[in-house]
Amino acid sequence: MQKKDLIYVLDFGSQYSHLITRRIREAGVLAELVSPDFDIKKLAEAKGIILSGGPQNLSEKSSLKINKKVFDLGIPILGICYGMQLTAFMQGGKVKAGREREYGSTEVVIKKGSVVLRGLSKNQITWMSHGDQVVKLPKGFTTTATSKNCPIAGMENAKKKIYCLQFHPEVKHTAGGKKIIENFLKITSAKRNWSMKNFINDSVKEIRKTIGNDRAVCALSGGVDSAVAATMVHRAIGKNLTCIYVDTGLMREGETEQIIKTFKQYQKIDLRIINAEAEFLSKLKSVTDPEKKRKIIGELFIRIFEKESKKLGKIKWLVQGTLYPDTIESSKSVGKNAAVIKSHHNAGGLPEKIGFKLSEPLRELYKDEVRKLGKLLKLPDSLTYRQPFPGPGLAIRIIGEVTGEKLNLVRKADKIVCDEIERVGADTQQYLAVLLPVRSVGVQGDARTYGHPIVVRAVTTSDLMTADWAPLPHSLLAKISSRITNEVHGINRVVYDITSKPPGTVEWE
Ligand code: XMP
Repeated sequence: MQKKDLIYVLDFGSQYSHLITRRIREAGVLAELVSPDFDIKKLAEAKGIILSGGPQNLSEKSSLKINKKVFDLGIPILGICYGMQLTAFMQGGKVKAGREREYGSTEVVIKKGSVVLRGLSKNQITWMSHGDQVVKLPKGFTTTATSKNCPIAGMENAKKKIYCLQFHPEVKHTAGGKKIIENFLKITSAKRNWSMKNFINDSVKEIRKTIGNDRAVCALSGGVDSAVAATMVHRAIGKNLTCIYVDTGLMREGETEQIIKTFKQYQKIDLRIINAEAEFLSKLKSVTDPEKKRKIIGELFIRIFEKESKKLGKIKWLVQGTLYPDTIESSKSVGKNAAVIKSHHNAGGLPEKIGFKLSEPLRELYKDEVRKLGKLLKLPDSLTYRQPFPGPGLAIRIIGEVTGEKLNLVRKADKIVCDEIERVGADTQQYLAVLLPVRSVGVQGDARTYGHPIVVRAVTTSDLMTADWAPLPHSLLAKISSRITNEVHGINRVVYDITSKPPGTVEWE
């Protein structure tokens, strides 16, 4: 494969570290996330280095630092948030807790003469998330941006090619973020040679070579990742691939049928369907803790998959739709500094110790890159652009204990939410229904009811890392509400979730 120009992103544990890497790739340059103590010899081969944000505080001794020599490599450096504070600290400036913390949208004023902020208008809305700030510039640096509570919101030393920002250019809420990334890439002179076009051919050849005449098995979840991974491997080894789909009973309405249609009929892949609803419900009985639910579902999924794949005979390979962020998050060196918000489960998370060799054709890719592949592989748009659906399924959209009855309620409500939103083509990237365990009094058909509420949640987001609640038209909300209360017996109230992420998350559990 052709050697690519590379940007390394040193990860100090920001929730946005992956976003930085993705933004660089979107601009056509390969970027990888590495730990702050990454080998300096390898760093020296990069076209550019980015220091991410992070939750730490430089006044604490244990705060993450880097090899001082990184600043003398002569490679362009972009320091973001903690990355800026660290640069200031290690280059002889001063960092202190600010009088006021800045979180969310913040206006900054851009000063003239900055290289990395070139072409941006004077007043910029940016995304901030910090308590500490640089209070004294290191020698050779000038201030490039200021905000009300942060007089040094940007600094740079153009001679040493070091550029720093207290705000986050990688987050879409920073209006000029894309331009800033472009400016930085121009400074690095990295070639724009990262694309999905050759990826398929290269990978199919590679898979054919490694798997050879062996047999492989793949767990299909119905999501785009496992579908694209299975399609790539199917192209390489054909009938030697068998797919298994475990119907957990926690899926949305019509989902299993759609999967059969797409894979068995459309792609002609050998697909086995395992109906395991009863087993999942029995294991989830009386469980209310969200993390416990997630773990139980993940583990049972693995056990069932293991049992079914054994029935297939001699299979050597396990195909997984593991994405780049999954490989990084589970690695020891990178991502360990980020707080665990939820333990994610998906069909791509099967452990190696099942006794297979692993084939992970997407392990270098981000989700948007996988969608591009899906399109190139001619998978149906309904699958390639399917809104995200969590591995633990509807179980994490039922607050409290999961029962068959509650699953029916939330499934019906979810279908109404999806149908109505898709019918008008409302601007939202993920939309769902959540069933609450509380009950409230209502009146339906002149009689008193005592039923559960459904929460409707719809968000606008480009990356699911941050999200805004979607301002759906009132007429649409009214239609959803009246349909749910009329058609889903047991629901007498509908509320709309108007929380962004942060502080909320997309799912309720
Ligand atoms: P949160 O709730 O963390 O969700 O804001 C962000 C995105 O991730 C999805 N999600 C999951 N996806 N396995 C998955 O494959 C999981 O366990 C899981 N939990 C949340 C969620 O639907 C949203 O798109």
